[in-house]
Amino acid sequence: MAHEAFDKIKAIIKEIESQKPETAEALEQFRIRFLGSKNALKELFGEIRNVANERKKEYGQFVNEAKMAAEAKFKALKEELEASAEEASAQQLDLTAPGEPLPLGARHPIASTMNRIVRIFERIGFVVAEGPEIEDDWHNFTAMNTPEDHPARDMQDTYYLRNSTEMLLRTHTSSVQARTMTSQKPPIRIIAPGRVYRNETISARAHCQFHQVEGLYIDEDVSFADMKQTLLHFTKEMYGPEKEIRLRPSYFPFTEPSAEMDVYWGLETETDYRITKGTGWLEILGCGMVDPQVLENCGIDPDRYSGFAFGMGIERQAMLLYNINDIRLLFENDVRFLKQFTSVV
Ligand code: PHE
Repeated sequence: MAHEAFDKIKAIIKEIESQKPETAEALEQFRIRFLGSKNALKELFGEIRNVANERKKEYGQFVNEAKMAAEAKFKALKEELEASAEEASAQQLDLTAPGEPLPLGARHPIASTMNRIVRIFERIGFVVAEGPEIEDDWHNFTAMNTPEDHPARDMQDTYYLRNSTEMLLRTHTSSVQARTMTSQKPPIRIIAPGRVYRNETISARAHCQFHQVEGLYIDEDVSFADMKQTLLHFTKEMYGPEKEIRLRPSYFPFTEPSAEMDVYWGLETETDYRITKGTGWLEILGCGMVDPQVLENCGIDPDRYSGFAFGMGIERQAMLLYNINDIRLLFENDVRFLKQFTSVV
């Protein structure tokens, strides 16, 4: 009996050694057969009862050896299988496949348009100047030659801060002109981009908040011709070298003479007809020679210095550049709209 049991163990050890499962399923079969809850060795452990006392120890060790052999074999086979699976999947990896695209952020069309305008002027020597959006009455209106009872204030009605007739949300970036002229000496060559506010009913063409870029150039002997040439240069850089401009007489309290500048947009497409109202000309900005009174208000000698200023709405330029037909799209922050500008820098 005892011999038989020893032989059975020998046979099982042989069997364990000869096994070579090559798939995960075959390995599982191996595990069930030799290490599972009803494994082939269990019965042989039970047989120790029938072994003569003096050989019990030897027998126990032998069965144990068989068990350990099964465990070691299982471990080795498992590692082998895992390694070859890894190798197989590495072979399937296509290193030439394009990567997963990362979601890219985008500059807002207003920011990219503003940057574009600013860069054009920076290249010809203007520097960026900034001022507060909550402004006082003096910088926004009075210094700009628009005293309290001036009718031009009606066109730029704004929001006043509670309990104050002094502090308001600036209606134009012209307030930065006053801030610069009172704090710097000529020559002054600034470009002032920023957000402005007006008490307007919101529609496809108007909003109670929008953005402007203002320019100011003050030095000795600055002429209207200098202004015209500077603005022509800007237009060609911004909209193309073939573009032409015209200046129409206009009125602003802080410039004299004043003008509106139109760009010849052409009448090639239906959109050209629509946006230029059939004339081919498109109004882009307001400009003029700085009124001597404004220079005086800000402590600059008008007999020695002269200058020009201009201001333009950025939304309008962005709408032209990107063919946007409703100004509200620029403020709603709808990602589906903004995503279209991912490639714009
Ligand atoms: N501040 C004017 C406006 O908001 C624009 C302007 C600026 C006109 C500078 C002339 C000179 O309408």
